[in-house]
Amino acid sequence: MRLTWIPCASLILLLAGCESVGDSFCEQPGCLFTDAEWERISTLAHLPPPPRDPANKYVGNALAEQLGRKLYHDPRFSGVATQKDSTGRVMSQPARAPIGERIEVSCATCHDLRRGGTDPTSVPGHVSVGAGWYDVNAQSTINSAYYPLKYWNGRYDSLVWQAMAVGESSFSMNGNRVRFAWLLHDLYKDEYEAVFGDEWPLPEFGRSFEEQAALLETDGQCKLVGARCPTQLGCAEESDEDGNTTCWPRFPLEGKAGDSACKRGQAPFQDAYDCMAAEDQETVFRTFVNWAKAIAAFEHLLYSREAPFDRWYDDGPDSDLLPPEAIRGARLFVGKAACIECHSGPLMSDKRFYNIGVPQEGVGVPREEDCVDDGYCAPLGWYAGLTALKAGTTRRIDNEDYSDTPTDRSRKAFYELEVEDSMRGAWRTPGLRDVALTAPYMHDGIYRSLEEVVRHYDRGGTSEGVAPQNKSVRIAPLGLRDREVLDLLAFLEALTGDPLPTELTDPPELP
Ligand code: HEC
Ligand code: HEC
Repeated sequence: MRLTWIPCASLILLLAGCESVGDSFCEQPGCLFTDAEWERISTLAHLPPPPRDPANKYVGNALAEQLGRKLYHDPRFSGVATQKDSTGRVMSQPARAPIGERIEVSCATCHDLRRGGTDPTSVPGHVSVGAGWYDVNAQSTINSAYYPLKYWNGRYDSLVWQAMAVGESSFSMNGNRVRFAWLLHDLYKDEYEAVFGDEWPLPEFGRSFEEQAALLETDGQCKLVGARCPTQLGCAEESDEDGNTTCWPRFPLEGKAGDSACKRGQAPFQDAYDCMAAEDQETVFRTFVNWAKAIAAFEHLLYSREAPFDRWYDDGPDSDLLPPEAIRGARLFVGKAACIECHSGPLMSDKRFYNIGVPQEGVGVPREEDCVDDGYCAPLGWYAGLTALKAGTTRRIDNEDYSDTPTDRSRKAFYELEVEDSMRGAWRTPGLRDVALTAPYMHDGIYRSLEEVVRHYDRGGTSEGVAPQNKSVRIAPLGLRDREVLDLLAFLEALTGDPLPTELTDPPELP
């Protein structure tokens, strides 16, 4: 028990309104805190490095991290613009490039490590735009390794398949695994082989992408040589349904998985991937998995460093290492405003999902009524995320094709949850470290400033979100005075850590 606290506390008991007592009588900042409050504050301090990912044995492998850093920054892995939004509507506003032209984005475009890992580039300013339109605001890659379930709605269970998904997503990078394998082969061969070569050799392309392209017609077939299909160049004859002879290369230039049966002439890319020999599909697929594992290994280095808040905490409850308003804000955070109920632990996220009454609004942000029948309905948040996770399409930690520890059961409790109506409109609690750097806020980026966020909580949220009946009981009007709003803001600003080392954040030289 700290002595300074006792007289102050008795005064608080005598006089109503402990804030005013705190201000006028407690000269020492430390006397603002009861032991219970300080105990709660201690649970927020010092973020340890993130846990390892059972799916990815390359976490901690320095060569994989270095390769991952380059891949993270390399725009050549992106494809062409679709300009569609997540419900398939073609948006009238231009995205990154006209439809069909290359978008030239990398992970770093939407997760700029010099800007808190967020997206300063998307024009609407609230959702991200890649090849098409996302339905949500970009999260930061910084601290993403802490969450067992990724994304605002939790639909992925590892950074590895999250990266694979974004690599091929038609509204994000819109790249494709076959092109990725060529790029790794042509540009990153030595670095790739140093990490993965023993176990997963690159496909035997035998020539570069450019050389292969010169051998092919625009429809992807091999150019005939002397009116014959040039088998010596790795091409093979096929007969189509009408009995016409076609001539296809062993390795196409582009391709991603369709529905697994080979249907020449169909999207994507003439179904080129599905039409490859099974062994070749396997080597291409492994390079794709490994591309993602290298990036994910790099992402494990991206976590918030020490913040003024941590240094103040170390200095003890009487410390004046933070401005008085931030100190009062800390007390509100663990007390009257009860933010810590969800923003708990050193990450300041309990990693759970809540409906907090955020309006579902903005260009490109789908509403519930935009959802088609039983399809994946993005506005439902955690409801849609858990549905996808349980279906197994986005859950891969227990899948031996992807995971380095398929026996891992660390996500089992999530897989076993029942999808319930109360999950509609719930989103994952974001961590608050470095939050002052990551505007705009909330899953749909609806708030431009932290002040708007704090006012949201002070109002007790809104009823303009999805399924307002599901709003958490913890979201109720707080009755904050203007000065208390400023105090909370000052506390949130004290969570900005020291900058990450520039050897992590600066774009590296690319091959
Ligand atoms: C066009 C912009 C864009 C690009 C390019 C992009 N992302 Fe994202 N990223 C987003 C958006 C938007 C979200 C949130 C998506 C959601 O929740 O559904 C996100 C979420 C994430 C998350 C989840 C963080 C968390 O806390 O769960 C990670 C990790 C991530 N991206 C990594 C990557 C990597 C790696 C790449 C490159 C391979 C990449 N992103 C490329 C926009 C982008
Ligand atoms: C019931 C749980 C809960 C409580 C209590 C709570 N939050 Fe949140 N917070 C969330 C969730 C969930 C989100 C994301 C909601 C969304 O995107 O729709 C969020 C989002 C935020 C964001 C935006 C972060 C970002 O990266 O977009 C900030 C800032 C924030 N909360 C601060 C606070 C503060 C300050 C308090 C106390 C006044 C508080 N929260 C109380 C659950 C909670």
